[in-house]
Amino acid sequence: MTDAQISLRALSDPADVEPLQPLYEHSDGPSCGFLQGLLDQSHCRAWCLVKNNQPVAAIWYQCVAERAEMVDLRVLASEQRKGLGRQLLWASLTALGDVGAVELEVRSSNEAARALYESLGFSETGLRPKYYATPDGREDAILMTLTINHGGSAT
Ligand SMILES: CC(C)(COP(=O)(O)OP(=O)(O)OC[C@H]1O[C@@H](n2cnc3c(N)ncnc32)[C@H](O)[C@@H]1OP(=O)(O)O)[C@@H](O)C(=O)NCCC(=O)NCCS
Repeated sequence: MTDAQISLRALSDPADVEPLQPLYEHSDGPSCGFLQGLLDQSHCRAWCLVKNNQPVAAIWYQCVAERAEMVDLRVLASEQRKGLGRQLLWASLTALGDVGAVELEVRSSNEAARALYESLGFSETGLRPKYYATPDGREDAILMTLTINHGGSAT
């Protein structure tokens, strides 16, 4: 068996998003249509990971001045827990270039995502109480920030 070929691809055209549809089916994050619309905006930057010609993960940011807000990160359900989320997040942080800080919001119950972000140096910087709907109520949004030191390391 040959090793899987995994590559990073920048998303720049709404047509690039069509093959990403399976990532957003049965998910509680932003819809594929919403994300497709972001590509029309000049401050949107997005990438996907392609494995054996199939998109398996995607990440979206809105960048204003030196701050980037991560809008969504998603790995195809059948490809989770194989290191792809970390690989894409790390590659995109590098590709963002001169950004000084990356911010995001995550559901307090999303232990997988919180562990991933913490492992790459994000820290909790705020909380929006009862921000997200759940099937039986509301849950908090945790705000996380990564400050990037362009001397070479992220803090
Ligand atoms: C969160 C998500 C992007 C992680 O991607 P992934 O490719 O499965 O994660 P990785 O295999 O790269 O794992 C990286 C680290 O994340 C953490 N992690 C990932 N899945 C986890 C799980 N099910 N439980 C606990 N920790 C988990 C671990 O710290 C892991 O490091 P380790 O393997 O050394 O223990 C993925 O689960 C996903 O797409 N979830 C649905 C969408 C979502 O919640 N996105 C985040 C919105 S803020």
